[in-house]
Amino acid sequence: MNRPSSQPSGFSPRPAKVLVLDTSAAVAQAVASHILSKVKKSPASVLGLATGETPKPVYAALVAAYRAGEADFSRTTTFNLDEYAGLADSHPDSFAAYMERELFGATNFQPARVHLLKGDAADMGEEAVAYETAIAASGGIDVQLLGIGSNGHIGFNEPGAPSSSRTRLVELSPSTLEANLSSMTALGAVPRQAITMGMATILDAREIILMATGARKAEAVAKAILQDPDISCPASLLSLHPNVYWYLDHDAASLLDNART
Ligand code: GLP
Repeated sequence: MNRPSSQPSGFSPRPAKVLVLDTSAAVAQAVASHILSKVKKSPASVLGLATGETPKPVYAALVAAYRAGEADFSRTTTFNLDEYAGLADSHPDSFAAYMERELFGATNFQPARVHLLKGDAADMGEEAVAYETAIAASGGIDVQLLGIGSNGHIGFNEPGAPSSSRTRLVELSPSTLEANLSSMTALGAVPRQAITMGMATILDAREIILMATGARKAEAVAKAILQDPDISCPASLLSLHPNVYWYLDHDAASLLDNART
């Protein structure tokens, strides 16, 4: 795999660009620095953003950089990966509300350049097509931030999601319903469906950052990096992409060989 000259230092060159750091805090700081340097270099960058527990400290670092006068997001465009079906953006358990709490409400991202999938759209098919159109109209995603589910899902592309899939309504797997229950503050259950960017949408991004922390992710990370690409582990399809950076802590990297830096 080629190492572009812009590659941050410290990444192991094979089998993917993998950076293993001591702590989850160090991972978050490194991912935040990666994103901040992109935005500094190209203020009108198009970012694909993720939710979940893993990226929260990344967003905290972006907020801190903004407050310190070290970052300006006023020209930056964003597209979030996914949203629970049935939840309005005002619902506290929606990913829209998460983004407002963790990032948008405390920085100068401009609402007109922030794109979120509407979980309560009357027509999910139309919503999905409009989202793909908006991504294309923005010039495409420059940097896509991803977490990973313990079953290998990315966005809400569950095992079996075709590599050609685009933004669409999907059913969540039982393991995802279970894993995400603890993050529901108002709902007693996880919605059974979601709208998510597809695998092809994600793979169209010019650069991808996947961050994973904690032993809970070790198996999915190892499958994704070490096995041949297969739809049974959606994250393994990332090896079809030439420019993916894996930011891992030791726990998440514990089932990889030779990945330590
Ligand atoms: C959710 C999101 C994913 C995220 C995953 C892992 O299902 N749709 O984008 O990567 O959970 O979340 P966490 O970081 O909380 O483990």
